[in-house]
Amino acid sequence: MEKTFVMLKPGVLQRRIAGELLNRFERKGLKIVALKLLRLSREMAEAHYAEHRGRDFYEKLVEYTLSGPVIAVVLEGEDAIAVVRRITGPTNLLEAPAGTIRGDYAARTRLNIVHASDSPASAEREIALFFRPEEFFPWEDGNRDWF
Ligand code: CMP
Repeated sequence: MEKTFVMLKPGVLQRRIAGELLNRFERKGLKIVALKLLRLSREMAEAHYAEHRGRDFYEKLVEYTLSGPVIAVVLEGEDAIAVVRRITGPTNLLEAPAGTIRGDYAARTRLNIVHASDSPASAEREIALFFRPEEFFPWEDGNRDWF
């Protein structure tokens, strides 16, 4: 099964919508296999967004990511990376349809509320940055007919 990484950015806790957003992933049938609340260090935020270093939005993006605790999640499922990207919606807010997380909640692209891995390589890198192997808790479905 494919794994993907999701980070609910500081605005999620501030707006009290963490449960609502996690529910969107769960009701689709994705499995939560690792989850934690944490405040990023600057080093970690810069490592996470290394590919954007030098872009005009980079500094403010890092500042926003450091402005409060985030929720880091690893989700597992068939085609989890693509499925989660459909649920979050595109990065560019003008393209994010209503019904997606960004389409429903984000007012600016930089403050787009949620991060989700965009490829197997970034999922692997991001999961390793946020989680140690002992922080994973794989589990089996009691009833596989649910999804
Ligand atoms: P995220 O999925 O966390 O990955 C990179 C982040 O950079 C993205 O969400 C946005 O928060 C931000 N970002 C990407 N492109 C732009 C842009 N054109 N203007 C402002 N912020 C951006």
